[in-house]
Amino acid sequence: MLFPDYRPRRMRQTEAFRRMIRETKLSTDDLIYPLFAVHGKGIENPIPSMPGQFQLSIDNLAKTAKKTHALGIPAVILFGIPGKKDPLGTEAYAKDGIVQKAVKAVKNAAPELAVITDVCLCQYTDHGHCGILNGKTVDNDASIEVISQVALSHAKAGADMVAPSDMMDGRVAEIRDLFDENGFSHIPIMSYSAKYCSAYYGPFRQAADSAPKFGDRRAYQMDPANAVEAIREAMMDVEEGADIIMIKPALPYLDIICRIREEIDLPIAAYHVSGEYAMIKAAEKMGFLDGPRVMMETLIAIKRAGADMILTYFAPEAAAALGA
Ligand code: PBG
Ligand code: ZN
Repeated sequence: MLFPDYRPRRMRQTEAFRRMIRETKLSTDDLIYPLFAVHGKGIENPIPSMPGQFQLSIDNLAKTAKKTHALGIPAVILFGIPGKKDPLGTEAYAKDGIVQKAVKAVKNAAPELAVITDVCLCQYTDHGHCGILNGKTVDNDASIEVISQVALSHAKAGADMVAPSDMMDGRVAEIRDLFDENGFSHIPIMSYSAKYCSAYYGPFRQAADSAPKFGDRRAYQMDPANAVEAIREAMMDVEEGADIIMIKPALPYLDIICRIREEIDLPIAAYHVSGEYAMIKAAEKMGFLDGPRVMMETLIAIKRAGADMILTYFAPEAAAALGA
């Protein structure tokens, strides 16, 4: 394969040739759209750091679900903003909690759209941490008791899949057991397996009002410096019964996606998070970058690294560009 016998440019000459040798394809099938649900009626609060994204009341959420389904996007992931917060995050597992109501409304509006729920406590606790506190620290084993109940309440409300994002140890096994004991052995778990302690979650915390009121999440989310540990985390989740392994954020952690892809035989999801979305939108607004092209290049890069599916706020925009 040496020049001048081999000339790579030969196969780059025309769009037909380029299509024929394209190794990675992005499809609308790969996209999962994150949505924020709030109590009330007729609400469509723009999220300032995430242009084009909104906190939606149930009525508007149902409309967005219909549009999302019409674009050919197979799934949404729901986040709730509760009416009240308390130390135990009780609305997270309340029968008439915001997510439980949102699940029902979305399933009603678009029955074929898969509804995944984010399972965590940080939006619901008054201290903003992802678990139950014991003094100033998050108590792992007390937290997974509550978090598995949150997951169960989502399944009872009609969620098609749950996605625990708390990063407590052993929560996948705890949820799997509770589901299996309660007639939900058919509901899959998408585990946020390698979730890094990332500043890229900033805009999300504004959108979901979920910033910790003291300290940070370093005692449970992963250190951005670690890669081998991510493989260990993913392997634990496989053993505990996860159906999909998620890596988060996406673009700064492509090496992690690639390494986990090599080690693990389960479907892999990558979360292209709020800060990644915000950076592209901000640069586009400033006239510094071609937003739509950077979006497509980014999503293709995440797939090329090994992700089978991408959770992204760009889902509707990308689906439209792909010509669903
Ligand atoms: C909550 C949660 C977070 C995200 C998803 N679930 C934020 C956090 O851990 O503080 C981030 C999503 C995003 O930034 O788009 N456990
Ligand atoms: Zn959380």
